[in-house]
Amino acid sequence: METLDWKSLPFGYIKTDYNVRCYYRNGKWGELEISSSEYINLHMAATALHYGQEAFEGMKAFMGKDGGIRLFRWDENSLRMKKSAEGIMLAEVPDSLFHDAIVKCVKMNKHFVPPYGTWASLYIRPLLIGSGAQVGVKAANEYLFLVFVTPVGPYFKELFKPVHMMITRTFDRAAPLGTGNIKVGGNYAASLRALDVAHHQGYASALFLDAREKKFIDEAGPANFFGIRDNTYITPESHSILPSITNKSLQQIARDMGMKVEIRPVPIEELETFEEVGACGTAAVISPVSLIFDEATGKTYHFGENDQPGPISAKLYEILTGIQMGDLPDPYGWIEFVD
Ligand code: PLP
Ligand code: COI
Repeated sequence: METLDWKSLPFGYIKTDYNVRCYYRNGKWGELEISSSEYINLHMAATALHYGQEAFEGMKAFMGKDGGIRLFRWDENSLRMKKSAEGIMLAEVPDSLFHDAIVKCVKMNKHFVPPYGTWASLYIRPLLIGSGAQVGVKAANEYLFLVFVTPVGPYFKELFKPVHMMITRTFDRAAPLGTGNIKVGGNYAASLRALDVAHHQGYASALFLDAREKKFIDEAGPANFFGIRDNTYITPESHSILPSITNKSLQQIARDMGMKVEIRPVPIEELETFEEVGACGTAAVISPVSLIFDEATGKTYHFGENDQPGPISAKLYEILTGIQMGDLPDPYGWIEFVD
């Protein structure tokens, strides 16, 4: 434990002491179980393995200066997991079970919550999988809900340092009426090739376009996209975008900073007009984007000056992380303490 170098943690998996599990059998959820194993015993015909019947969530716990451990908007993650469950016919996890599982898991791994000031946090990964056997394409009749935690550093390697992204037209992450708006594994499998191509070309992420027309910005890899222009926060609207809780929070903060907020389709050409661009999400927090390359047109878009984050992104970042880490008041009731 003491050997963890909190300030240089990657966004990756580090073993912690415990995870929690709950099984859904015969139409109902059982008791929450605590496990110290990193493995699950799964039927080889489980629907999660064959037909991708699985959903997950991602959230963080933060330690404040006062040593208090804070959960950020867990109820939104719980709601989203219910939407994912509905979308691919998983058994729904009630809020109370979701809450008890994440709280228990964080408490049992308390000493893995990175200290205040390290800019690291404890990533919480709830997972819901079809564990019952089926060979026909059908929903399972048994499910496993599991929560593990792992201490993480920034997703895009450098904390709040602008990154470069590449517009991909070769791959879609989600179909227009597909599952892009829920958090299911298949979307991430579908994004792997595009991300790999982008990484190989030196970009932090691929920027996906709308799958139907390839005219509008969809998602910034595993994060939502936003642009800033004329004191307006602009973020795409599309059925294939995951509704990001970070984005929703930034919209609220932007409004309270006196900005306008526009949620609507964002054509690629509009990139030209943005003063600042960023990717946002639990893992990404806010990752300012200073350059976007469009492989189809060969065009490169630049944002900000000298590869520095823009002032509005910096302010949004300061307020969001200030609330999360307890440096600022929480006027919205977004924080719950884990004691
Ligand atoms: N978009 C995708 C595809 C994601 O995987 C995530 C991460 O959860 C987000 C956006 C950001 O969502 P949130 O802010 O709720 O973490
Ligand atoms: C998150 O931001 O929580 C994500 O899930 C992104 C990625 C690591 C899948």
